[in-house]
Amino acid sequence: MAKKLHIKTYGCQMNVYDSERIAEVLSPLGFEAVDDADGADMVILNTCHIREKAAEKVYSELGRLRVQKETLASQGKRMVLAVTGCVAQAEGEEVLKRAPFVDMVFGPQTYHRLPQMVAEATRATGQVLDTDFPEESKFDALPDNRTVDGATAFLAIQEGCDKFCTYCVVPYTRGAEYSRPAAQVLDEARKLVVAGAQEITFLGQNVNSYHGEAADGGEWNLARLIRAAAEIEGLERIRFTTSYPAEVDDDLIQAHGDVDKLMPYLHLPVQAGSDRVLKAMNRNHGVDEYRALVDKLRAARPDLALSSDFIVGFPGETDADFRATMKLIEDVTFIQAYSFKYSPRPGTPAALMDLQVDEAVKAERLAELQALLNAQTLAFNKQCVGKTMAVLLDRAGKKPGQLVGRSPYMQAVVVDAPEQLLNRIVDVTITSAGPNSLMGALNVDNRKACA
Ligand code: 5AD
Ligand code: SF4
Repeated sequence: MAKKLHIKTYGCQMNVYDSERIAEVLSPLGFEAVDDADGADMVILNTCHIREKAAEKVYSELGRLRVQKETLASQGKRMVLAVTGCVAQAEGEEVLKRAPFVDMVFGPQTYHRLPQMVAEATRATGQVLDTDFPEESKFDALPDNRTVDGATAFLAIQEGCDKFCTYCVVPYTRGAEYSRPAAQVLDEARKLVVAGAQEITFLGQNVNSYHGEAADGGEWNLARLIRAAAEIEGLERIRFTTSYPAEVDDDLIQAHGDVDKLMPYLHLPVQAGSDRVLKAMNRNHGVDEYRALVDKLRAARPDLALSSDFIVGFPGETDADFRATMKLIEDVTFIQAYSFKYSPRPGTPAALMDLQVDEAVKAERLAELQALLNAQTLAFNKQCVGKTMAVLLDRAGKKPGQLVGRSPYMQAVVVDAPEQLLNRIVDVTITSAGPNSLMGALNVDNRKACA
């Protein structure tokens, strides 16, 4: 009988990808993924360490799972409880101390070793801690059958970060930058397409620093990889995230101009709009460079829309610095953004900086910044009304007879459409727009196509 595996994923898309691959590693051992932790034989928390709140969530979830584990134990059943992801990597020992009922703690670079870990953990006493940065790449050891849920898929092409922004834990939790060989990436992309993917998002903590080994012994950059992926028949859309502005090269800008399958939407985190703060963050570019980069990208691809990440209340951020961030947002315009109060992280240089900003000031700035960003999102959504967009319908809507999909700009679009159009790219005319989604009507030709 299949054993039930529940994976709860926190944080970024890389964690979503890792969770899928973890499920694939465990499948030959007889584990079948389920949506509910109740009654599961194994529960894995795939965690995020980026801000304090994210990390603390893990411990409260572990508290809940402890009760469940003990209830099962009283019935003579065993639940294996595991913690992976960036909290596991950063606080491995501490996780086992704070939550001694946890059976396995493993980092994001060692989950290919799960079969051995499970064997050890299921022995009577075995608690497993594996937070190495192994010599071998997990990608060489993972099973090479890929499954796709729906029509979109993530594909990790690069991992780790050497940039050391002063606020960020990622260089410590994900390790040094590593690029997968180009042939390995393209092979996985083809498998994903065979398994049903029409849209693939290349993932990397610094995806545009990709420099993967090529078959001829040379190296490919991200633009080259995108061009090769665009040749894959059946792959209709390509995206990539997350980019580091200081390393966007001309090849990539050019690719935005002439690779039709590359979607006109780019996540380009700027974090702040003040040179002083950017310098203290160690971002390696100033505000004018960011503006110039956006201009170049838009010159290459006029319909390119941007999203970004912002941190407010970085140590030493003055009101004038914050105003500069607001001005940058007003000038550049973003159709989507993630914004956060600065959260001091143990072991990062910024946590020790003077002039930490008061929580109340952070909260005020965040509210003001989010109001502006939300207004920009809504304005962009409203501009779409009356336009026709290609929408990849990839899930059922809330109401019967509805499907929901993604526009080229990642907006959610709700359409009355027959089920046969699920996982198809169709032309939709946008009829109304809200802050979080668009409503649209199927164009006549699509309706005919499914009749
Ligand atoms: N505090 C607040 N936000 C942070 N981020 C990274 N580290 C921190 C931190 N210490 C944000 C950045 C990054 C995003 C993934 O999370 O904006 O781009
Ligand atoms: Fe963190 Fe900066 Fe690396 Fe992004 S580039 S993962 S923000 S250190």
